[in-house]
Amino acid sequence: MTADFRLRRAVPADLPALLALENASFSYDRMSARQFRRHLDSPSALLLVADDTPALLGSALLFFREHSSLARLYSLATATAARGRGIGRALLAAAEAGARARGCNRLRLEVRQDNAAAVQLYETQGYRRIAALDSYYDDGAAAWRYEKPLQAGS
Ligand SMILES: CC(C)(COP(=O)(O)OP(=O)(O)OC[C@H]1O[C@@H](n2cnc3c(N)ncnc32)[C@H](O)[C@@H]1OP(=O)(O)O)[C@@H](O)C(=O)NCCC(=O)NCCS
Repeated sequence: MTADFRLRRAVPADLPALLALENASFSYDRMSARQFRRHLDSPSALLLVADDTPALLGSALLFFREHSSLARLYSLATATAARGRGIGRALLAAAEAGARARGCNRLRLEVRQDNAAAVQLYETQGYRRIAALDSYYDDGAAAWRYEKPLQAGS
């Protein structure tokens, strides 16, 4: 496995590639171009990408709420051809660092119960299952809710 990609904040020029990644990665609850654009410079969002110029290999989207120490990982995706190279894990670590930098001490996320790869990723990275959510997604699929405490410097 080689770390031949760079993690950085998304910029407007990433929008077409972000949309392509979104459409290839998710069948339901997809983010639109307008939503992505809004999150680019929102104080309540952090959109990260894994960049292997000219290709965009992955993305992670975090949300913050004012006066809350809880950050939410809304989305995480690695391009199909780039999976299994540590990009998802690296994006997750960068998202955690981004949440800590904003003063958050917990990161929460929901994941489809049938998404074995993502469940495995979160569990190996220290996330603990805190709830089961029936009919959570548009297609009626159930979710697990996971949370991880973010210690300073961890
Ligand atoms: C989940 C996802 C982001 C993982 O990305 P990735 O870049 O392939 O993951 P990594 O290479 O960083 O793998 C890190 C760990 O995740 C787990 N993992 C990743 N893919 C896996 C798979 N197919 N089966 C089981 N475990 C898997 C493993 O624990 C792996 O560690 P290891 O390589 O030491 O075994 C990717 O599969 C994806 O984009 N899926 C579609 C979108 C999605 O479901 N996103 C998550 C829900 S929001």
